[in-house]
Amino acid sequence: MGINVRVNNLAVSYNGVKVFENITFSVESGQLVGIIGPNGAGKSTLLKSILGLMSIDRGEVEILDGSISKARRKIAYVPQRNDINLDFPVSVEDVVMMGRFPHLTWWGLPRRKDREVVTESLKEVGMIGYRHRQIGQLSGGQLQRVFLARALAQEAELFFLDEPFAGIDISSETMIMDLLRGLRNQGKSIFVVHHDLNKAETYFDTLVLLKNRLIAFGSREEVFREETLKEAYEGRVSTFAGSDKLMVVNG
Ligand SMILES: Nc1ncnc2c1ncn2[C@@H]1O[C@H](COP(=O)(O)OP(=O)(O)OP(=O)(O)O)[C@@H](O)[C@H]1O
Ligand SMILES: [Mg+2]
Repeated sequence: MGINVRVNNLAVSYNGVKVFENITFSVESGQLVGIIGPNGAGKSTLLKSILGLMSIDRGEVEILDGSISKARRKIAYVPQRNDINLDFPVSVEDVVMMGRFPHLTWWGLPRRKDREVVTESLKEVGMIGYRHRQIGQLSGGQLQRVFLARALAQEAELFFLDEPFAGIDISSETMIMDLLRGLRNQGKSIFVVHHDLNKAETYFDTLVLLKNRLIAFGSREEVFREETLKEAYEGRVSTFAGSDKLMVVNG
C-alpha cells in the first residue's frame, strides 16, 4: 500500500500566534483516520493546512505522491462550518451536483452518469426524498448530510471531513460510519475530525491526537493511553470503575 498523505515538520500560526509545530506523520491508503483533541487544539487548522487552504510557517505536505495542486481533484473536503449562502435558491440536488464539477465535460453540462452518481450519493446519506428541496429549508443535520453527499459524488480518493457528525442523530451517524468504512475498504483514506473520544476509539484505524503539537499518533492502543489523554485533556481523564476503559471527564 502506498502512502497517501505525508506531513513533515509542519508548523502553523495565525498572526504570529502559534497553533502547532513539529507535526510529522504519514498515512497509508485504506485508512480511517480520526483527528482528536480538545477545542482549539488545531484540528481544523491541521486539515486546512494539509489542503493548502492557508499559509504554513514551516514543513512539507505531500498528497498522493505529489503536491496538493496536482491532487486537488481527488480530494473531497467538508469544512466544519460551511459558509454556503443558504438564501441562495439552489436545490439539494444542485449542491450535490457541485461535487461532480471535476468530472464534468468542458461545456459543463451534467451527463447521465453524473446524475446517477448524484442520485446514488443522496440515497447513501438518506436524503433522496429531499432532492428538490431548497437548501435553506433543511435542518442542520440534513444539511450536513447533503454536504457529505456532495463529497461522495466527487468520487474522490481522499476525504477530509471536519466534524461530519455535528448535529446528526445516532442512526444517521451509524449509517454514515458504515459508508465511510465501505470507502476505506475500497482503499480510500478518510480523515475525520471527531470530538467524541469514546466513539473515536472504536471508529478509526489510526488516530492523530493534537493539542498544539502531535501528542500521539498511531493505533488506538498507542493513542488511548492514560498519559497521552491526560496531556491533551489536562488531566480530566479517569477510568471507568471496575474496568480499564479510559474516559474524559467534562472533556
Ligand atoms: N482565522 C483565525 N484567526 C486567528 N486565530 C484562529 C483562526 N482560526 C483558528 N484560530 C485559533 O487557532 C487555534 C486552533 O483553532 P482550530 O479551529 O484549528 O481548533 P480546533 O481543534 O478545530 O477546535 P474545535 O474543536 O473548537 O473545532 C485556536 O486557538 C483558534 O482560536
Ligand atoms: Mg475545529
